[in-house]
Amino acid sequence: MDVILRAEGVDLSYGTYQAVSGADFTLKRGEVAAITGSSGSGKSSLLYCLAGVLPPTSGTVTFDGTQLSALPDGELSALRRTRLGFVFQYGELLPELTVEENTALPLRLAGISKDHAHVMAAHILKRLGMGDLLRRRTSKLSGGQSQRVAVARALVHRPDVVFADEPTGALDSANAEAVLKEFLWLARSQKTAVVIVTHDADVAAKADSQYAMSDGALIQRVSA
Ligand SMILES: Nc1ncnc2c1ncn2[C@@H]1O[C@H](COP(=O)(O)OP(=O)(O)O)[C@@H](O)[C@H]1O
Ligand SMILES: [Mg+2]
Repeated sequence: MDVILRAEGVDLSYGTYQAVSGADFTLKRGEVAAITGSSGSGKSSLLYCLAGVLPPTSGTVTFDGTQLSALPDGELSALRRTRLGFVFQYGELLPELTVEENTALPLRLAGISKDHAHVMAAHILKRLGMGDLLRRRTSKLSGGQSQRVAVARALVHRPDVVFADEPTGALDSANAEAVLKEFLWLARSQKTAVVIVTHDADVAAKADSQYAMSDGALIQRVSA
């Protein structure tokens, strides 16, 4: 079994409040996993642990054989920059940059030339229906358009794992479908694994494995 990410007994506390309790999670290369659950159940907190954004209070997260919390900060951020992709709930686009520049950022940070990075960015933006807005500043976009740019930016460097927190929340059903298709296409063609937190039952139903989060506990519903 080709496991890319494994979490064992992950707890996360904020002070005395325990947001995640004993989460076990295994993700194979190319697998799409969906996590559903009510607001406040700990989905985003778990995602932060899985993605190496927050160290678990106890338990371990292992990415491709390396325990994330054992890595020095510099190595952890390099790993996150090159091998992981993120679409977080509270958008983090740079408003003064264009759609194309925002999307190309992970490639530019990896040292890829501007021309090449922009060709790759334009390619994925077209697939997400943003081909006409390449030169627009992201401060001028609607919520749904911004969300698609965030998705494009998370996928442009073809990471091993993409973490997406409600990536279709601001989208109408046609655009939600386009975003999901892009995740599935990457998973199938590049073996990119995807962890997607969603309220949308249709999105969850298309995933390979499904989990529910309730009061900080993660329960597997459908296994890959
Ligand atoms: N930085 C924080 N400090 C204290 N409590 C937090 C913090 N972030 C989240 N929480 C609490 O942890 C619980 C889980 O939050 P979260 O992971 O955001 O849930 P979800 O994404 O499922 O809505 C909530 O009760 C929330 O209020
Ligand atoms: Mg959340």
